[in-house]
Amino acid sequence: MSRRSLFLLAGTLVVLHFTIIVFMLSPLHGARRTFYTSGYHRYSMRGGPSVAWCKDLHFKPLGPVVALVSHPGSGNTWLRYLLQQVTGIMTGSIYMDYGLRTHGFPAENVTDGTVLVVKTHEAPPVHPDKFQAAVLLIRHPKDAILAEYNRLHKGHIGTAPKSAFKRKSHEHKTTDWVKFVSYQLTAWESLHELWLTRFPGKILVILYETLVRDTEPTLQRILDFLNHTVTKDDMSCAIANREGIYRRRKKLQDFDPFTADMYQALDRAHDRVHNLVANYSRKHNLTVTRVENVAPMT
Ligand SMILES: *[C@@H]1O[C@H](CO)[C@@H](O)[C@H](O)[C@H]1NC(C)=O
Ligand SMILES: *[C@@H]1O[C@H](CO)[C@@H](O)[C@H](O)[C@H]1NC(C)=O
Ligand SMILES: *[C@@H]1O[C@H](CO)[C@@H](O)[C@H](O)[C@H]1NC(C)=O
Ligand SMILES: *[C@@H]1O[C@H](CO)[C@@H](O)[C@H](O)[C@H]1NC(C)=O
Repeated sequence: MSRRSLFLLAGTLVVLHFTIIVFMLSPLHGARRTFYTSGYHRYSMRGGPSVAWCKDLHFKPLGPVVALVSHPGSGNTWLRYLLQQVTGIMTGSIYMDYGLRTHGFPAENVTDGTVLVVKTHEAPPVHPDKFQAAVLLIRHPKDAILAEYNRLHKGHIGTAPKSAFKRKSHEHKTTDWVKFVSYQLTAWESLHELWLTRFPGKILVILYETLVRDTEPTLQRILDFLNHTVTKDDMSCAIANREGIYRRRKKLQDFDPFTADMYQALDRAHDRVHNLVANYSRKHNLTVTRVENVAPMT
């Protein structure tokens, strides 16, 4: 072999070597986590199903930035999914969830007016120009908190095992679950209170329970608020695909993880927030919507 071909062979081997290393390392990039994605990857790393879209997703011309605000576990991802199905326009997020980005939400981490709405779980930003309007998605705290607990344990579509509700941390007498409910309920109430009382832009309040029950008219109300028109076919396609891959299949749990005290606290917080919604609606001359407190599971 000539010197020249030996040299070429060596070069090829080196390139091959590095290609293999990069290939082997690449799943690690996908596994980087943020707080809000921690559960999801357990599911996505196994390779989740991919999403079939009614039309190719695209950005829209630059317009006002509309926040999609919710407490974690309140159906934010599902509503983003429905909006993308019906409009073909991507929805953004103030977070970078790598799992969501590879499974149907390519505009993760996009926060400007080229996306339909921008997901956030945070209080209204100090900078008043960040969002011009907001869709506030409210779910009963009992279901939101349980969904979030399930997500932290099992990813976006699983359910936490019974043992996860009984586990006690070392230094505390109470269970992780009890602490979680109390902390989450405070956060749930304060998020809604801050948006309903501090945000200077227009707010459309959407109840998750209404979105589930009357998906089409509720989706239409959101589109009207966003000044976005869609055809009948667009709407039928979105509704035909309403389930998507991001809804946790409701498994009937054979036990109720909430105590009587928890129910009381949840319902009180829920009532206070709905009084705020009623006040907001009165002040802005909107029709008041209201949901009943959910009955304990039997
Ligand atoms: C998110 O977007 C910002 C601003 O566009 C950019 O600087 C940052 O690198 C992005 N983060 C990730 C993880 O891609
Ligand atoms: C929708 O149009 C109305 C009337 O032109 C405007 O006041 C409002 O800000 C628009 N909303 C959004 C989200 O673009
Ligand atoms: C709602 O408005 C009424 C009358 O303005 C006020 O008395 C009440 O405290 C308000 N409720 C909340 C929860 O802010
Ligand atoms: C409130 O809405 C009603 C019915 O849409 C309308 O007749 C009334 O003038 C509005 N009031 C204000 C203060 O905008």
